[in-house]
Amino acid sequence: MHKPLTVLGLETSCDETAAAVVQLGTNGEVHYLADQIYSQIDEHALYGGVVPEIAARAHVGALDALIERALAEADITFEHLDAVAATTGPGLVGGVMVGMMSAKAIALAHNIPFLSINHLEGHALSPLISQQGDDGPLVFPYLLLLVSGGHTQLLSVEGLGQYKRLGSTIDDAVGEAFDKSAKIMGLGFPGGPALERAAQKGDATRFVLPRPLTGRPGCDFSFAGLKSAVRRAWEELPVKDDQARADLAASFQQAATDVLANRTAHAMDMFAKAHGARTLVVAGGVAANTVLRTRLTEEANNKGFEFIAPPLSLCTDNGGMIAHAGALHLRAGRVDDLTASARPRWPLDERAAKAHPASGSGKKGPKS
Ligand code: KG4
Ligand code: ZN
Repeated sequence: MHKPLTVLGLETSCDETAAAVVQLGTNGEVHYLADQIYSQIDEHALYGGVVPEIAARAHVGALDALIERALAEADITFEHLDAVAATTGPGLVGGVMVGMMSAKAIALAHNIPFLSINHLEGHALSPLISQQGDDGPLVFPYLLLLVSGGHTQLLSVEGLGQYKRLGSTIDDAVGEAFDKSAKIMGLGFPGGPALERAAQKGDATRFVLPRPLTGRPGCDFSFAGLKSAVRRAWEELPVKDDQARADLAASFQQAATDVLANRTAHAMDMFAKAHGARTLVVAGGVAANTVLRTRLTEEANNKGFEFIAPPLSLCTDNGGMIAHAGALHLRAGRVDDLTASARPRWPLDERAAKAHPASGSGKKGPKS
């Protein structure tokens, strides 16, 4: 029998400043005692993408107050915490250092353990947070499609600290492709939701766009060629009106989701063969896309997989997923040294990254 663990989690690796307090119960159940997020979207919108220097300064400006608010929301003080966890990579290094140094200072001042958490691991374990209760808890192993502004990966999540990368983008992340395509068409920032809205009134068959790597063996992704094709199609358009924008947005969205669905179908075959288990989970900001969710539901049905799409608040960057990962490691007996350093590139599966360094280095870059 475990005792409940209360952990503060800090997330500052991109453009969300987040502090959350999570309690990990005796049987692994998770309670959010506080969940504070400050989105920097307005500060970056002017530039059409995340500017690393602005992000780092905004984290410095927002984090202390967010931590105070999180403790107030949880109705606790630092003395009630069992540990403090922070994202220490991958991500924009200036921002990562802000959260990491704050967490170390709290650990030192209040004499509690510090946990250095890989942002990708936070995402990889986050489906466990919501899958408690009515349908029974989600159990290892499961197949995870992580689709965000900085990452596009297929991971076999086999246990705490046991992640196998089945595939990853060899160039741009899919969220980045959404954002850049939206920018080309003058659709505002962040581009993903704006592009999905525009696509609702569009004809997805009007533009013939490439589907890189589709039909090839394996589970790697590529989106750079698709983004370039969107640029060419837009530049060659004689009339750049709202209908053209909607049609190109719909054609892009169709092509991008086709690529994701095809590669995920391969991964489901590999995963089922290796484990005999059949659960597919999607996470990351692009998981908000309804066309993608529908496609993944169909693909999962075809392969006899259960498909789980956790609530969006868990899919996108948040402090709770970092606190949760920290609490699981703490329970497993891990505590990190205060000399731990920031790792702007930090692959979750080091073996796969060494064997195939061009992809999945864990880079999380600016979204512009
Ligand atoms: O996970 P997230 O909040 O932050 C990162 O870690 O990057 O993901 C943000 C990404 C952005 O690229 C954004 O444009 C994309 O998710 N996104 C979407 C949608 N909503 C957010 N992409 C496509 N369709 C959407 N509805
Ligand atoms: Zn993320």
